[in-house]
Amino acid sequence: MENKEKQYMEETQSHLVHTYNPFPIVVKKGEGVYLYDEEGNKYLDFTSGYAVSSLGYGNKELNKKLKAQIDNILHTSNLFYHTAQKEAAERLLKLCGMDRLFFTNSGGEAVEGALKAARKYGFEKKSGRYEFIAMKESFHGRSFGALSVTGHDAYRTPFEPLLAGVKFAAFNDLDSVRALVNEKTLAIIFEPVQGEGGVYPAKEEFVKGIRKLCDENDILMICDEVQCGMGRTGNYFAWQGYKARPDILTMAKAIGNGIPVGAFALTEKVAKYSLSPGDHGSTYGGGPLACTAVSAVAKIFEKKNLPDHVKEISVYLEEKLDKLKEECPFVTGRRGVGLLQAVKITKQVKETTMRALGEGLLVIGAGDDAIRLIPPLVIEKEHVDEMIEKLKKALEA
Ligand SMILES: Cc1ncc(COP(=O)(O)O)c(C=O)c1O
Repeated sequence: MENKEKQYMEETQSHLVHTYNPFPIVVKKGEGVYLYDEEGNKYLDFTSGYAVSSLGYGNKELNKKLKAQIDNILHTSNLFYHTAQKEAAERLLKLCGMDRLFFTNSGGEAVEGALKAARKYGFEKKSGRYEFIAMKESFHGRSFGALSVTGHDAYRTPFEPLLAGVKFAAFNDLDSVRALVNEKTLAIIFEPVQGEGGVYPAKEEFVKGIRKLCDENDILMICDEVQCGMGRTGNYFAWQGYKARPDILTMAKAIGNGIPVGAFALTEKVAKYSLSPGDHGSTYGGGPLACTAVSAVAKIFEKKNLPDHVKEISVYLEEKLDKLKEECPFVTGRRGVGLLQAVKITKQVKETTMRALGEGLLVIGAGDDAIRLIPPLVIEKEHVDEMIEKLKKALEA
């Protein structure tokens, strides 16, 4: 962190542990796809809080349901099954195409649970399999298990030693995965679209090849869809686009639209040999408020047919980005799928996001060479046009 930024953080946020590098604005209000700071400046939000606020801000239908739940029950722990959890589980399982799920409070926790579910499967089957194959440049979260399968040295090194039995293959390189498989391999974990790693979609032959490799060797395929899941790729979950169902699926972010909630889901094949009472738990996981959010969000997604909207609007977004590449010498490429896109730039990424902020546009980096575009899924063409205009100005400033 640069000295100027350090000083700013000390002056404005001296009460916090400084693990973040936030924009120098204080947000006060959100409405639709816009955020407003305390000075009244308006920002078009193409971050959606790291792919969380898929419905944008202030969705009335969702908020009405949340308010009603607040007036009813806020917490029961898992001492009792409750109607909100039953409805949320049924709705989510229908959309994600899995058989059983466990609610968590975050994406990282969903990954932790997924790893544990896999280990328990190996234990119950007495297979002698316990190793994970993960991908280089992947991101799965900050807790120890999730960090152990994250393929970025910068995130990992200060916290080593991490979980034993993890090997890293090159993403989108099936031979590199195959070369690591042995009789101890328990599971292969990957993001169908690497998000934090720079927005790289998995190739179809890679995903299908992993599925086949797993089927042939009784290895579990774990898809982490915490960032790319629930509508963002134009399918409810990205795996559906590959027609290669994982054995374990993680999700979070979009499923709660801002209420902290995540889940890991299992196929019946895994569930039969996996976690049983006493193996895993969470005091808050699957709480009534979070589950009400999940049900309401899922219902709105279905009513608006958001995945189809994403399919349509992303065609327009891609066309506009490709045109920007032709017109603007600082843009050299585009990558991504649906509303998880990145534009490769020759200018410095941090400097560009700061200039965009000055133009009233919120965007973040994708790796160290690109700008990531992860807007609310409800954006319309006019928002794409506005973003292009502002990004162009930011790049040409
Ligand atoms: C693919 C993926 N997995 C896991 C996580 C961790 O989620 P959380 O920050 O909710 O713990 C993230 C967060 O960005 C993510 O992108």
